[in-house]
Amino acid sequence: MHSHLACFNPACRAQFDINDVLYNCTVCGGLLEARYDLTGADPTALKRTWRERRMDNSPLCQSGVWRYREMFPFLDDLAHVVTLREGNTPLLAAPRAAAYGGLGGITFKHQGFNPTGSFKDNGMTCGAAQARRLGMKRVACVSTGNTSASMAAYASAGGLDPLIFIPHGNISYGKLAQALEYGAKTYQVEANFDQILALVRVLAERLGIYLLNSINPFRIEGQKSIVIEMMDQRDWRVPDWVVLPGGNLGNISAFGKGLREMLELGLIDRLPRLAVVQAEGSSPFYEYMAAHGHAPFRAQEHPETLATAIKIGDPVSWPKAQFEVETSKGVVERASEQEIADAKAIIGQCGIGCEPASAATLAGIKKLTAAGVIDRDADVVAVLTGNVLKDPDYIYRYHTGQLQAPDGSAIRPTFGNKPVVVPNDADRIAALIG
Ligand code: F0G
Repeated sequence: MHSHLACFNPACRAQFDINDVLYNCTVCGGLLEARYDLTGADPTALKRTWRERRMDNSPLCQSGVWRYREMFPFLDDLAHVVTLREGNTPLLAAPRAAAYGGLGGITFKHQGFNPTGSFKDNGMTCGAAQARRLGMKRVACVSTGNTSASMAAYASAGGLDPLIFIPHGNISYGKLAQALEYGAKTYQVEANFDQILALVRVLAERLGIYLLNSINPFRIEGQKSIVIEMMDQRDWRVPDWVVLPGGNLGNISAFGKGLREMLELGLIDRLPRLAVVQAEGSSPFYEYMAAHGHAPFRAQEHPETLATAIKIGDPVSWPKAQFEVETSKGVVERASEQEIADAKAIIGQCGIGCEPASAATLAGIKKLTAAGVIDRDADVVAVLTGNVLKDPDYIYRYHTGQLQAPDGSAIRPTFGNKPVVVPNDADRIAALIG
């Protein structure tokens, strides 16, 4: 069985050629996933190969994605790869954050160390490679900011034309600036993320543009490398929990698939439990899972959160996300604006820092430990999805007491750290410092 695309819907499972330009099943409309025959792979040999590649200076081996290429063998010619040396992101211990979250210890897998500052680079290198392999000239995405920054960089690096569609006034300047700097044609649409995704799908079809949202199965393949690299860095010791923020739910889908495939291959001996945390004002997946199958999935028409990266009311990948959460005996939590803001400040105080959406992890962990869902002595890895500099405006407002929730209520600067204005006078400054 060669690489192929398959419908994710268990009642359908239609198969398609790996080179078909498809984003949904043409039989039932379901989500698609890439599939391969991985049987016969020797887990010990794979682990050794991946370790050896770290000492190899070739671009493919220096990439923290393509180093693990045996896990996503969809390309027949690796010359199509565009790499900016993505991945290679650290695992960081953070005792202060652990104490805040009610844990004895916590490790952050910080995807903000990627070339464009977010986990999107892990997936985009694969999506861009497939676009080049298909002979596409133009690529497009709708984005809350990070996907567009990443797509702009990888498209430009790979000689493709990037077209970006973003909700007008609803992405941070750091991310918009990246898209402009990396040379993407940028359209600010007066609509929300979910509405623009529908629009971009029409335009992609009509104009023959390759769509690089996370509905693209090759993006998901690349994002699997985040958990593969995590396990490699942990010498294949499986944590009890992996916690991540949820927006469009592509990342949880990628994590679940990657972990299941590692288990099938014998690279790991069990699955960690997956916890997804959403922002309270933008939590359709939380609502759905909390109803335990008694209500159909319902999109939120007007999602709201200051964590703009996860301001999504109609996440396309929810069926995959549900499957992965249930398969791993995982949970879905949500956190308020105040909880996210305070958790973010604590991650900052660890000398680590992250963007608002990423801090939903620690905010969620605090609630899950308090509820007894996560044990105090559990081995927990939380994924920080974006760099601290993605949204400096939010940081300044929080620390100076000017941050307001979408409903206009004030966010308390519980861990605020206001800059102090001083005169140019050594004596007075010395007195202030004490
Ligand atoms: N964290 C950050 C920093 C993000 O940018 C996103 C998604 C998520 C978490 C949620 O990941 O969608 O896979 O559940 N950002 C997308 C974008 C939607 O357009 O950049 P998800």
